[in-house]
Amino acid sequence: MQIDINSLPNDIQYKLISSTIVPRPIALITTYNDDTGDNAAPFSFFNAMGENPPVLVVGLETRRHSRTLKDTTHNVMHNGQFVVHLVDEGLGEAMNVCAIDFPSDVSETAMAGLNLVPSTVVKPKRITEAPVAFECEKINFVQISPDRHILIGKVVMMHVREGLFDPDTYYIDPEKYHPIGRMFGQLYTRTRDHFKMTVPAYEDWQKTHPK
Ligand SMILES: Cc1cc2nc3c(=O)[nH]c(=O)nc-3n(C[C@H](O)[C@H](O)[C@H](O)COP(=O)(O)O)c2cc1C
Repeated sequence: MQIDINSLPNDIQYKLISSTIVPRPIALITTYNDDTGDNAAPFSFFNAMGENPPVLVVGLETRRHSRTLKDTTHNVMHNGQFVVHLVDEGLGEAMNVCAIDFPSDVSETAMAGLNLVPSTVVKPKRITEAPVAFECEKINFVQISPDRHILIGKVVMMHVREGLFDPDTYYIDPEKYHPIGRMFGQLYTRTRDHFKMTVPAYEDWQKTHPK
């Protein structure tokens, strides 16, 4: 079946995109506001876009009913700084609490029982319970519709939980790192089921696939 996705209403487009491009990693993002203090919220329209410099992107929509900017968007627009935390199995429930639409002056991390410590480079604080955290500075915001901004950020400092990686090889141990992924709506997935595939050299491919 072919779907002319642009002809469909927003909520159906959202449903089709967010239920097929899965699983998505979850960025639990902390930001800071001079008037309202610390803020945290999860975003699964999120991914890495490359290194040198290390770049992350986040898709930020407006609030569904009021169509106003979310606190995260507002804060990064004003001071250009944020911290992205990857969400593992242990952080899942607290991440969910941070998604509640609390008033702007309520700290989601306090409500979720998470601990904040000062970051090294940026002003927004870092969540100590997160397995991985990236302190980031805004490169740009791309507005793609009245209700959608794409935030492009540069990583200026990285933090990894002790014991998760080998400091000699810089390899993260997949047996110890258990990020969760967002499927659609309330559905999430674990990432414990690994398998290996090696891309063969062209010469080896030719040997096994003669003309
Ligand atoms: C797992 C998960 C993923 C989410 N992903 C996004 C997203 O990619 N973009 C977005 O705008 N909102 C997303 N949300 C909703 C925001 O987290 C929610 O609107 C939050 O209250 C915004 O908080 P803020 O106003 O403090 O920034 C997601 C919620 C959950 C639970």
